[in-house]
Amino acid sequence: MPVIGDGFRRELEARGISRREFVGFCAGVAAILGLPKSAVAQVARALETKPKPTLVWLELQDCAGCTESFLRASKPSAADVILDLLSVDYHETLMAAAGHRAEAALADVVAKKPGEYIAVVEGSIPTGNGYCTVGGRSAQQIVDDVCSHAAAVIAVGTCAAFGGLPAAAPNPTGGRSVGDAVPGIRKLVNMPACPVNGENLAALVTYYLTYGKWPALDHLHRPLFAYGKSIHDACERRAHFDAGQYVEAWGDAGHRAGFCLYKMGCKGPATFHNCPNVGWNEHTSWPVGCGHPCIGCAEPAFWDRMTPFYEHLAGVPGFGVGTSIDRVGAWATAAVAGTFTAHALVQLTRRKLAETAAKKQRAAESSAAPPQPQPKDKQP
Ligand code: SF4
Ligand code: F3S
Repeated sequence: MPVIGDGFRRELEARGISRREFVGFCAGVAAILGLPKSAVAQVARALETKPKPTLVWLELQDCAGCTESFLRASKPSAADVILDLLSVDYHETLMAAAGHRAEAALADVVAKKPGEYIAVVEGSIPTGNGYCTVGGRSAQQIVDDVCSHAAAVIAVGTCAAFGGLPAAAPNPTGGRSVGDAVPGIRKLVNMPACPVNGENLAALVTYYLTYGKWPALDHLHRPLFAYGKSIHDACERRAHFDAGQYVEAWGDAGHRAGFCLYKMGCKGPATFHNCPNVGWNEHTSWPVGCGHPCIGCAEPAFWDRMTPFYEHLAGVPGFGVGTSIDRVGAWATAAVAGTFTAHALVQLTRRKLAETAAKKQRAAESSAAPPQPQPKDKQP
């Protein structure tokens, strides 16, 4: 008698995903989750054998960037695997059905599976009159109905998690986060960033399918595996920050040498996300990695709090660590300028630079040795 996993494997094969690539995917998400190598087999077994939970994906006041990010993740794409693991009964961008038939599918899930399905919400919830209606219902009515009956709600992207761009001042549509719009949600997981990182979303769903529970969250309902450390903590340019080596102007020698972008407005010290470790576009790079400051896109009200993006904002609200960082930065700058020479600083800088170089080396070696898509040092 065929085991449940046979069907799943056939589905993956039909999509051109080999067993080897599937195990590589499992190793990748295990690394993002910070799980030991021994957990990879457990993850693979769980994904192959667990029943498919039902998922509905709502798109409200959004640009569909999170859907795009999810679909364009690594190969095999997160979507390739996850969409086979889930029963996606409603997704406005992906589903073939439209109009009344599509809305009937959504109503069916809510009526027949209350407390069983997962709702993913993309976009903020406009509360002003006449904004964003789907199938004759307002966004607020839809989330009241769908999210309050879901077993769990995953708010993907900064718009759904915190209101995002639509809620930026003066917030003409009265945009709100899902958590604010529907206070009675049973389990809320916020996955902010603009857009959500598809690898993180895949890791979140994989964790739930493997362990039957959601990972630990912080006070903003964000999973710690993806939002437990600041960008600054893991940044590859951190050694230059510690050494007081900053980019002073776009394209200057410091910029070309990969110096710290703090003075160009980098909000990495006030932003919590795992971009330096997980990266974007199939792990090829990330904003700071390609010479652009972090603009804090994963933080609440980033459009209001973190602008102007290209200015250093020492007094930005929430720059809690920034106060001491400003002091450290000033001290390091002074040291480099020759006010004094700190042996410890030099040692620290050398060690940090050596660690960064070793990390890059390991990453290069790992990527050349299949089937390990996610090197150990990529763990947060
Ligand atoms: Fe990296 Fe920005 Fe921190 Fe500099 S300020 S080390 S560029 S995160
Ligand atoms: Fe956003 Fe900063 Fe990452 S801008 S994508 S949180 S590096």
